[in-house]
Amino acid sequence: MGTNMSNGVSSITIVIILCCSLLHLVDIQAAPQFNFSDFNPTRDNNLLEFLGNGSAIDQGALQITSDTTNDEFSLRNSYGRIMYKHPFNMWLSDEIQASFNSNFVINIFRKPAWNAGEGLAFLIAPDLSIPDASYGQWLGLTNATNDGNHTNQIVAIEFDTEKQDHDPNGNHIGLDINSVNSTATVLLDIELSPEVGTKYSVWVQYNGTSKVMEVYMVKEGQPKPEKPLLSKTISLKEYVNQKSYFGFAASTGNPQIELNCVLKWSLEIDDLQKKSDLLWLKIGAGVGVPLVTLLILCGVLYLNKRKRRGRGGDEESNVLGTQLRWLPGMPREFKYKDLKKATNNFHESMMLGQGGFGVVYKGILQDKDHKSSTEIAVKKFSRDSIQSKDDFLAELTIIHRLRHKHLVRLVGWCYEKGKLLLLYDFMPNGSLDKHLYEASNQNTLNWSRRYRILAGVASALHYLHNEYDQKVVHRDLKASNILLDSDYNARLGDFGLARALDNERNSYAELGLAGVPGTMGYVAPECFHTGRATPESDVYGFGAVVLEVVCSRSPGISINHHQRPYSLVDWVWMLHREGSIEEAIDEKLGNDYVVDEAKRLLLLGLACSHPIASERPQTQDICQIIAGTMPVPNVPPFKPAFTWPSMVTAFSSTDSSFSNTFSS
Ligand SMILES: *[C@@H]1O[C@H](CO)[C@@H](O)[C@H](O)[C@H]1NC(C)=O
Ligand SMILES: *[C@@H]1O[C@H](CO)[C@@H](O)[C@H](O)[C@H]1NC(C)=O
Ligand SMILES: *[C@@H]1O[C@H](CO)[C@@H](O)[C@H](O)[C@H]1NC(C)=O
Ligand SMILES: *[C@@H]1O[C@H](CO)[C@@H](O)[C@H](O)[C@H]1NC(C)=O
Ligand SMILES: *[C@@H]1O[C@H](CO)[C@@H](O)[C@H](O)[C@H]1NC(C)=O
Ligand SMILES: *[C@@H]1O[C@H](CO)[C@@H](O)[C@H](O)[C@H]1NC(C)=O
Repeated sequence: MGTNMSNGVSSITIVIILCCSLLHLVDIQAAPQFNFSDFNPTRDNNLLEFLGNGSAIDQGALQITSDTTNDEFSLRNSYGRIMYKHPFNMWLSDEIQASFNSNFVINIFRKPAWNAGEGLAFLIAPDLSIPDASYGQWLGLTNATNDGNHTNQIVAIEFDTEKQDHDPNGNHIGLDINSVNSTATVLLDIELSPEVGTKYSVWVQYNGTSKVMEVYMVKEGQPKPEKPLLSKTISLKEYVNQKSYFGFAASTGNPQIELNCVLKWSLEIDDLQKKSDLLWLKIGAGVGVPLVTLLILCGVLYLNKRKRRGRGGDEESNVLGTQLRWLPGMPREFKYKDLKKATNNFHESMMLGQGGFGVVYKGILQDKDHKSSTEIAVKKFSRDSIQSKDDFLAELTIIHRLRHKHLVRLVGWCYEKGKLLLLYDFMPNGSLDKHLYEASNQNTLNWSRRYRILAGVASALHYLHNEYDQKVVHRDLKASNILLDSDYNARLGDFGLARALDNERNSYAELGLAGVPGTMGYVAPECFHTGRATPESDVYGFGAVVLEVVCSRSPGISINHHQRPYSLVDWVWMLHREGSIEEAIDEKLGNDYVVDEAKRLLLLGLACSHPIASERPQTQDICQIIAGTMPVPNVPPFKPAFTWPSMVTAFSSTDSSFSNTFSS
């Protein structure tokens, strides 16, 4: 494999131990790195972004520009970039900047008859794009319009083979900041593109503390020289985007042409995300966020049920592993053998539950010094469930960045030999449904706990819908997906079905589960028509949970005292119409509840259950209603009719709605 990634992480340790307000973050993860000792299109194409006209992997190398040697005309005015697809955190502040070290081998090839031109560059860029018409002197870095513009946010080391007006000669290296007019240049004794193809090994190093950028260069096979060719103090934070991509750019001219090849490439860079987590934790502790000694639990990851494509086996799993490791801020990677140990060899006695895609186990991780241990929930996916790694990655890129005190946290992952495991905070009190329905738990949920649970779920939903930088729908809100921590605070789990709204792939139809996911009663009526989950359908699911928690009844169809099938919503709505909504409140609470609060929640539950999606309250209002800072919307006596397509714009209630709702 060309991509033998470092797994430089020792065995078990983990997370956080908060002890007398002393916070230890055990084991900061080693610097991420990758190392391509050659390039292979099947293996590496999905790790890299190919831009411009003609860039590709060919002959075991990155060809940044076109690489035909037979048709010299097609080599003219070519330009391209090849970038590593995952970005890295370049800095957190002026002081904290990532150090990196990249080593690569280049061959700028020309036939003796060719005039070499124009050049190749090692590049740090803010995105995966390339300016138009970046051929000739622009080196795939800039163009006539944007050269020198600070919004380019690029820093590059150029290997220039053609003299332009701004160049000292046609054989130099330079440090380029937003412009091909270099900030610093060094003339070379060696020839970048001699008549006989020559490979050069290059090191580009940046020290985030001293802010010195250095470039070393030597014929391949020789040791790294003591002295850098170029050394320049530059605070990268001034120029590059916080999250930046690494790669190469190159161009040819007319008639100057050359092949711009990169044969090997490795990069190591500080993992600033970890440091930022640490800061965040310290702030958290300082402000008094109740960080308990570590808890955890489980959610479930949704994997698309599409046909597994092509070859499986180690190659694919290594590529997936590589991509996972590179997700910015990705929770730490665990070794399979450590998880095996933590779960007592995935013993039945450690099983917490079983979901659509695998089994959840409780795991106990021993600290390095064996003085303390940490409980986690380990979700072990069954092999068949990992059918599309692209979907899986898409999913994980979203999930792992979600952070909210009412969301179950993903703490780690493991992907070895095709086996995928995800680690979550362990939630000592299990899921909400168990407390509502299991006889042994009947007295655990007093009124104030119930109220707090619903407030927590509402704020988590609000976060998913509005506060996170991508809109996320949960898609499968139900009592069994709401976990309870040691203080009976709600933690929303099972982002298995969460999908960013902007990736257009949130169709119920795709789920391929038995019917629509989620249990009857939680799924909004329009979903059966559109097949799509939306923030409004999440609100519908939330309404069902609200009624469920207040009434301790499952939202699905049940038999009422007239022996007719009613959904919970219909039953509560009927009581509301009859002016006796209080009858819906869980009898087990006796008189130990706050009447106003209970009524407010029931009406909120009904409002969220409006058959017409656009009429349901939004999460912001829901949070305010629960907080008591906003009145509950007016709930009509009869449940409005579900119309499709939706035309009704206001609460309305008609005779037909009555028949619709109440005749089975
Ligand atoms: C990359 O891998 C090659 C061989 O596979 C090895 O010689 C080289 O030292 C590695 N480089 C880094 C930076 O790990
Ligand atoms: C690349 O694009 C430029 C301008 O768009 C064009 O002149 C050139 O022929 C193209 N080269 C190749 C190899 O497609
Ligand atoms: C430079 O690139 C930008 C972005 O691709 C493009 O809008 C602009 O037209 C290009 N300028 C020239 C002179 O081609
Ligand atoms: C730099 O680029 C930005 C965005 O492309 C543009 O709005 C601005 O006018 C440019 N500045 C100059 C000096 O060309
Ligand atoms: C290149 O930049 C230098 C200063 O950074 C400036 O003096 C020179 O005029 C520029 N040359 C061109 C061709 O833009
Ligand atoms: C980076 O620079 C600092 C300060 O000059 C120095 O202490 C440190 O050793 C350097 N790091 C590396 C990896 O050279």
